[in-house]
Amino acid sequence: MTRNEAKPPKILLVDDDEDLLHLITVRLKANGYDVNACSSAEDALKNLAVYRPHIVVTDLKMSGMDGMSLYEIIQQQYLNLPVIILTAHGTIPDAVTATRQGVFEYLTKPFDGNILLNMLEKALKHSGTAGPYENKSDDREWSSEVIYRSPVMEALLQQTKAAAVTNVSILIQSQTGTGKELLARAIHKASDRRDNSFMAFNCSAIPEPLLESELFGHSKGAFTGATRAHSGLFQAATGGTVFLDEIGDMPLAAQAKLLRVLEQQEVRPLGFTQSIPVDIRIISATHHDLLKDVEEGAFREDLLYRLNVVTLELPPLSQRREDIPLLATYFCGRFADKHARSTIKFAPEAMELLVSAPWPGNIRQLQNVVEQCAVLSGVPVISRKLVERALRFKPDKLLSLNEARDKFEHDYLVRLLNLTEGNIALAARLSQRNRSEFYKLLRRHGLEPEHFRNNTSE
Ligand SMILES: Nc1ncnc2c1ncn2[C@@H]1O[C@H](COP(=O)(O)OP(=O)(O)OP(=O)(O)O)[C@@H](O)[C@H]1O
Ligand SMILES: [Mg+2]
Repeated sequence: MTRNEAKPPKILLVDDDEDLLHLITVRLKANGYDVNACSSAEDALKNLAVYRPHIVVTDLKMSGMDGMSLYEIIQQQYLNLPVIILTAHGTIPDAVTATRQGVFEYLTKPFDGNILLNMLEKALKHSGTAGPYENKSDDREWSSEVIYRSPVMEALLQQTKAAAVTNVSILIQSQTGTGKELLARAIHKASDRRDNSFMAFNCSAIPEPLLESELFGHSKGAFTGATRAHSGLFQAATGGTVFLDEIGDMPLAAQAKLLRVLEQQEVRPLGFTQSIPVDIRIISATHHDLLKDVEEGAFREDLLYRLNVVTLELPPLSQRREDIPLLATYFCGRFADKHARSTIKFAPEAMELLVSAPWPGNIRQLQNVVEQCAVLSGVPVISRKLVERALRFKPDKLLSLNEARDKFEHDYLVRLLNLTEGNIALAARLSQRNRSEFYKLLRRHGLEPEHFRNNTSE
């Protein structure tokens, strides 16, 4: 059986028996695989991030690090990477332990070469990496801005492509800074709607009354201050894609209207008696646990099931560390272009530190760290010291706009409650919100009016 794909699957082969290493390499290559042969586990680890194998095949007993330890390290860093362990006759108990711990498969030496080939095919299918080889010749333009090399991202993009070409609603549920908006734009590009508009809307950035008219539109005179009619985002984006960011912050009244858009593909602008048809694909994003919001009554269950026909989860950067060198280099290039500077790069020890850092702010934080290093570095090679300094840089010094708004809202409410001694009617009036909205705001920020009353009476 010979593979014909343009890009053959890559096998990282590890064995300290040079003869066997050579023999298996020849056999795999003859069957269309790309093979990187390493004579020790230490060597394999060095090659792993650069070579990006689809499967690792390793001997169990080796001088130096053994196959099991290699497997354990791989499992921590590359979740979906299948590992096949080769064992000498008589070490079955070890092998059985290995399988129990999640090794894909083990094979007792000496073995029939065809068995290994079958196993490799099975492992490719199992890890979800069988597809990409057939699709590698596919047009990848749609995702060209998403930089990655990790198998988890490869799997996610495969899933994304499959969903993108349909018209279903997609919910992207991931941590902050993981690339939600970037993915939403890629989905739009992969869809039939790519020639129409992509409109992004942040549900937490706009106060409630304005939010409804921004999304659904309004007629002239629909409310005080509506001096002219406004068609709203859904009408403006018809034929295209609407990206609703921070969907968990959408007020309940607007949620009901959004449900109508999804169910009937029509909007009724404020002040209109009739609905207007729209043709919209909705992608929404959140870092909230929406199921929990549903339980707490802050999010409509029926809407959730309309929005999450497909849910995509971008893995945090700490679960795809092999992407870090690639992303850091990419951001260096972007920075050099932006500031018309000569190429900058990280010293190897500096890169090591980047790869091992915790990254709670994910790719957005990495981007900031790279930019900070690039600005501060007087020389073209960024030192480890500079990275250390940039990593100590507390992210709360530079909050995202949403976080800053959230913090402002919280501080504002505390001030208001102190001022009014927890008198809700008064506080609501001063902030020009009705009481139920005001209560909702307090709940969102976990504030109890009683605490402000008690404070003053004590
Ligand atoms: N895989 C990637 N390749 C290249 N750039 C990326 C990648 N992922 C994210 N970025 C960049 O990182 C930054 C943050 O990404 P994005 O705004 O899409 O994340 P987000 O999840 O929407 O963040 P937030 O939670 O802060 O809204 C952007 O500048 C984006 O271009
Ligand atoms: Mg975002």
